[in-house]
Amino acid sequence: MSSRITIERHILDQQKLYPQASGIFSGLLYDIALAAKYINREVTHAALVDALGSADSINVHGETQQKLDMFADSTIIRICNSTGRLCIMASEEHDDVIPIPEDYFGGKYALVFDPLDGSSNINVNVGVGTIFGIYRKISSGVYGTIEDVLQPGSKLAAAGYILYGPSTMLVYTTGQGVFGFTLDQTLGEFFLSHPNITIPDKASYYSVNQGRQRYWPEGVRKYIEWLQGLDDPSRPHVDTRYTGSLVLDFHRNLVNGGVFMYPGDMQKPSNISGKMRLVYEGNPLSFIAKNAGGYASDGLQDILTIKPRTLHQRVPLFIGNRDLVQEVERFIATNDGDWMTTYKAQRDGKQ
Ligand code: AHG
Ligand code: MN
Ligand code: MN
Repeated sequence: MSSRITIERHILDQQKLYPQASGIFSGLLYDIALAAKYINREVTHAALVDALGSADSINVHGETQQKLDMFADSTIIRICNSTGRLCIMASEEHDDVIPIPEDYFGGKYALVFDPLDGSSNINVNVGVGTIFGIYRKISSGVYGTIEDVLQPGSKLAAAGYILYGPSTMLVYTTGQGVFGFTLDQTLGEFFLSHPNITIPDKASYYSVNQGRQRYWPEGVRKYIEWLQGLDDPSRPHVDTRYTGSLVLDFHRNLVNGGVFMYPGDMQKPSNISGKMRLVYEGNPLSFIAKNAGGYASDGLQDILTIKPRTLHQRVPLFIGNRDLVQEVERFIATNDGDWMTTYKAQRDGKQ
């Protein structure tokens, strides 16, 4: 049996690449791995401990919060807020930033996270995930401010996700390659299973909620027909896979090659920027995609270059194989002038 590398050993080995590293960052990654183990345990036996279903509360997006959303959220906060490693946190499930309690030290990093992604799949036993991003503190005080979590994705120090699927995997990057770990449930330890994940050149799938086709801008519709080879039957079609869990679809496309899309649409003004959230879904996954040789766009530009204005700002998301994502930018530039104008005004706060 090859010498199995634990995530702790890998993080410490990675730390050697950063001579100035203090170990605080490594400790933070390990805290997240611990939170993942707690969430994994709750997700895998939720039906047996009355942890399925709604928590009878609504989040800032007007979505009914699931009990597992709240469990994952509170677990990450409980494990990460007292270590002195963080100066602030931001979660999909909290309207505002989450301060570090004053009886704990303020740290050098800021954590953004979607505690449980794919909540609509919880009750039907389809894979769900957790998404996280880590920024270096840039605000001046002892504790962080919203400024620390509204940095562009290009400033991320690390990003990752946990996928609670047939196996539980933790995937992360610090900008030097993308690494995947699989949880050995009998030992309760993550072991390196996917060293240096890179997105294959050939895309196997595209992932989009086809049910929303009639609301999409014309360029997106034409792009999907291009993927299907409708404009030129001599060109092979691309198959489609869509689960309703961003992390699951993203992970499949990262490993097999493909593009995930949640376009902005014209159904109503609030849909112009789509459904995905820039800070704790778009940016962390775009940082991972970039480090695996892929690319992510809002349809106009690299997502990592967008300066977030608000914590729960939405962003159209096209993410995966670089060539396929750049192709959709061309289709939108050619066909969707009106949508682009309205979206840019909304994104840049000019409407
Ligand atoms: P979350 O559960 O964190 O709110 O995220 C759900 C997201 C994402 O995981 C998924 O890709 C998308 O919502 C599915 O949306 P539709 O059901 O509208 O396709
Ligand atoms: Mn989500
Ligand atoms: Mn969520």
